[in-house]
Order: sequence, then structure tokens, then C-alpha cells
Amino acid sequence: MKYAVTAATGNFGQTAVKTLNDLVGADNVIAVVRNTEKGNKLFPQNEVRQGDYDNAASIKDALQGVDRVLFISSQPGGKVDRATAHKNVVDALKANDVKFVAYTSYPHAQDAKSPLASDHKVTEDAIIAAGIDHSFLRNNWYLQNEMGFLQSGAANKDALYWANNNAGWALEGDYAEAAAKVVAADQAQEVYEFAGASRSYEDLGHALQEATGNNFAIKQVSQDDYVKYLEDGGLDANLAAMFASFQAPIDSGDLTEDTDDLAKVLGRPVTPIVDAIKQLLA
Ligand SMILES: NC(=O)c1ccc[n+]([C@@H]2O[C@H](COP(=O)([O-])OP(=O)(O)OC[C@H]3O[C@@H](n4cnc5c(N)ncnc54)[C@H](OP(=O)(O)O)[C@@H]3O)[C@@H](O)[C@H]2O)c1
Repeated sequence: MKYAVTAATGNFGQTAVKTLNDLVGADNVIAVVRNTEKGNKLFPQNEVRQGDYDNAASIKDALQGVDRVLFISSQPGGKVDRATAHKNVVDALKANDVKFVAYTSYPHAQDAKSPLASDHKVTEDAIIAAGIDHSFLRNNWYLQNEMGFLQSGAANKDALYWANNNAGWALEGDYAEAAAKVVAADQAQEVYEFAGASRSYEDLGHALQEATGNNFAIKQVSQDDYVKYLEDGGLDANLAAMFASFQAPIDSGDLTEDTDDLAKVLGRPVTPIVDAIKQLLA
């Protein structure tokens, strides 16, 4: 049985390849990468193939002879729009008669309000329409998204945020390990809503106080004041608005989740939040 991980050179892909190597043997795991020089350095034990989502022929060739695929979503804002690039991947899965795909999607992708969800909904729909056996790995927020908040607290400065509602933050590595486990499993659910425990920024701030031993203030401000705070910290207006917008999916309620899917697939508890924060700040 041959397994492939696409977009393997990213943070998610590197952990997923490592986990799959342990589960099924590196001889059976193909790293599909955009840049083969980078791929060969990162994956000396694996077969490395060039596969660019933007180029239908390239991704089709990369998936030849593969049975099971971990399809990692790319970032929006590339040369080719993400929905089109992902459609190239789905066409390649279909053309190569791939038996199973696990796709990294967005929480409750079919009903979510955030514009970020739309490419994921389109991709889920394309996989269903192609008739490929699948799992949708709907990953909640990576704790890594909150480095600004975490670093403020680590420096004993006020930790600011603007969004209401909760998120299910967990380490990106936990999501990636679970993704590899789904691809390696004999049986998988059609949908996993992967998340850590549901927390507000206030809760996250308290965990950060515990992790750092610092007693900084945790403050909710308006979105405008949050943008201004980022600008005062040295970001230009566009970047400040973009970083502030990352909290919008939390504010909208898209990321409020109560599920134990992640711990169940990991076969262990999700990394406890205080330990996870310490890992990121180390
Ligand atoms: N849930 C969340 O909180 C959250 C947060 C951030 C991201 N995400 C999603 O999770 C995914 C994985 O995250 P990550 O940390 O691994 O991101 P990352 O470290 O930025 O890696 C992105 C990967 O995508 C590859 N890639 C980009 N465009 C591609 C294309 N057209 N064809 C083939 N490969 C392409 C990159 O290749 P190169 O190495 O050649 O650049 C890289 O391997 C992201 O792409 C995004 O969809 C989710």
C-alpha cells in the first residue's frame, strides 16, 4: 500500500510524514512537494515527488500509483486561486483512482460563516462529487496562530484581544499527528471536527499566566483599538488589519466546538494547554 502526503514541506506536512513513517514505514510514504530540493533535504528516508497544486499535470503525475493520500490544504492568496488549485488536486486523485483521501478542512465547513471556509466547502464538495472515499479533517485553530498574544504575556505585557466566543486551540502538531493516523487507519469517519477544549481568550490568558508565572493583564478591546495596538507595535495599517481579522472566525462563533474527536484519534489526551504554551514559548 502506498501513501502520499501533499504540501509535505510545510509544518503540518513534516509532522504528518514523520508520523506516517512510524506507522507504515518510510518505504511506503511518498512526500509530494512543490520544491524537490527542499523536499529531499527534509525527507531523506522517503520517495520525494514534485507536485504543484497550481499545475494540473504536475499533481496528476505525483499521485500515480498511490492508494491513500493526506491532502493538506494550501494557503489562500497564491498565483492560482485556492479553490481552482484544490480542484486540480481532486482531479488528480480521481484520475489516479486513489482509494482514500483525508483532506484538511475548516470547522463545520458546510455551514461556517467565515470567508475562509468557502474554498474548503468547494473542495469538500468536489471530493464528494468525484466519489472518492474520504475523511474531512476539520481542524479548529492552531495555537500557533496566537504567537503575538502568547509573546505579550511571556514579556509580562498586557495580552490584548478583541474577539468574543470560544475556539478549540490545539498545537498544529497534534492535528498533524491525528491526520496521519486517519490516513493509516483501516476505518475512518467521514468527518472529524478536530479541536482542543473550548476556551475564550480570557481562559487562554489564564493558561498563559500559569505557563509563564507572569501576572500581566488580559484585556478585551474593540477591533479598531486592537488594530491600533498592532500599528503602535510597528505593523503597517494593512498588516495590522489582516492580523486583527484572524480573530474574526472566533468572534463569529465558527470555532466554538465541543468534541473529543482529536483525543480519540490521537489515542491520548490533546497536549494540555499549559504544556502546549510552554512548548511554543521555549
Ligand atoms: N486551522 C488553522 O488554524 C490553520 C492555520 C494556518 C494554516 N492552516 C491551513 O493548514 C495548512 C498547513 O499549514 P502549515 O503550517 O503546514 O503551512 P505552511 O508551513 O505555510 O506550509 C504550507 C505548505 O503548502 C505548500 N504549498 C503552498 N502552495 C502550494 C501549491 N500551489 N502546490 C503545492 N504545495 C503548496 C507549501 O510548499 P512550499 O514549502 O514549497 O512553500 C508548504 O509545504 C495551510 O496551508 C492552511 O491551509 C490552518
